[in-house]
Amino acid sequence: MEQSKSISKCDKGSFIIQDHGFCYGPQVVILVGKDHKVKAVNSNVRKYNQLLFSGNVKEGAFIQDIIARECRDTFLEKLGKALKGQDIHSSIRLKMENGYQRWFDVYYKPVMLDEKTIIGVYVTFWPLYQNLQRLCEQEKYTEDSYYDLARAIIRTYECRDPNTAVHQKRVAAMAKIIGRRMGFDKDRLISLYLGGLLHDIGKLKVPTDILAKPSSLTPLEFELIKEHPVIGYNVIKDTMLPKLVGEIVYCHHERLDGSGYPDGVSGDNICQEVKIVTVCDVVDAMFSFRPYRPARTKDEVMEELNEGRDIKYDTQVVDAMLELLTENVSFHDLRETLFSS
Ligand SMILES: [Fe+2]
Ligand SMILES: [Fe+2]
Repeated sequence: MEQSKSISKCDKGSFIIQDHGFCYGPQVVILVGKDHKVKAVNSNVRKYNQLLFSGNVKEGAFIQDIIARECRDTFLEKLGKALKGQDIHSSIRLKMENGYQRWFDVYYKPVMLDEKTIIGVYVTFWPLYQNLQRLCEQEKYTEDSYYDLARAIIRTYECRDPNTAVHQKRVAAMAKIIGRRMGFDKDRLISLYLGGLLHDIGKLKVPTDILAKPSSLTPLEFELIKEHPVIGYNVIKDTMLPKLVGEIVYCHHERLDGSGYPDGVSGDNICQEVKIVTVCDVVDAMFSFRPYRPARTKDEVMEELNEGRDIKYDTQVVDAMLELLTENVSFHDLRETLFSS
């Protein structure tokens, strides 16, 4: 009787997980059915979503479509054994964005309808740090270290070229607003912000008389400027910053139609974070006074966005930016609290 009660709860999702006492602590628990579909998950799945899974973890999704590629083969092999009735314990090691590795103990426990019939498997991922508070402290420390490093880089840069430093801060703040509106989670917002903040850091190597030249650039000078994404990437690629920050720095002059630089990549080969920083970069540059031209008006900026929408710039990002412009957000007032003291 007790078994069938549990099974009927199983159909309603997370109840069965609570029955088994899996809802407290840092572990991620997933109930996978015989058909390899997710039947239920606990709330910790959100915490490790980017690490353990490559897709949206929801009931009805095929586990092979969402489990992280790095551990997919091992996972499916163990799951197959558990579906045949074995209790299995194994470990997996996953690489985090910042290059560190995180270990998980993984338990596969068959769920029995009766003594012979298996209806699914509970998979429990125990993170290496089982003390949740310690884990939060460690993550907070990592986040603070990102900001400390970014602050040190940008303040150094400020001494040489304050205009570009301020431009980067505004682009970062704008990008974060758009990322929020597009529903990015905290980790993506951190990378997006840091990528915006450091996107032009490679201009360190461009002579200041070219950066501040009061007339149009010669083709040779333009070629020198075009090196800044690669230079910037090389400056930060071996730091502890998330990989995505380097990608934003490297790709922020790429365009959807492949007309950008340094590699001329296009479409889905450009990630969403880059597409956001690109639009913010263009908007802030247009709004800024240049020695060789006046600042553009809001109408001119909106016209450029509309003309480039779905050609050079991502549609969703352009629409979010047009919304901001319509709301009259003052980009020149945007300051990140990180720098306000
Ligand atoms: Fe740039
Ligand atoms: Fe820029």
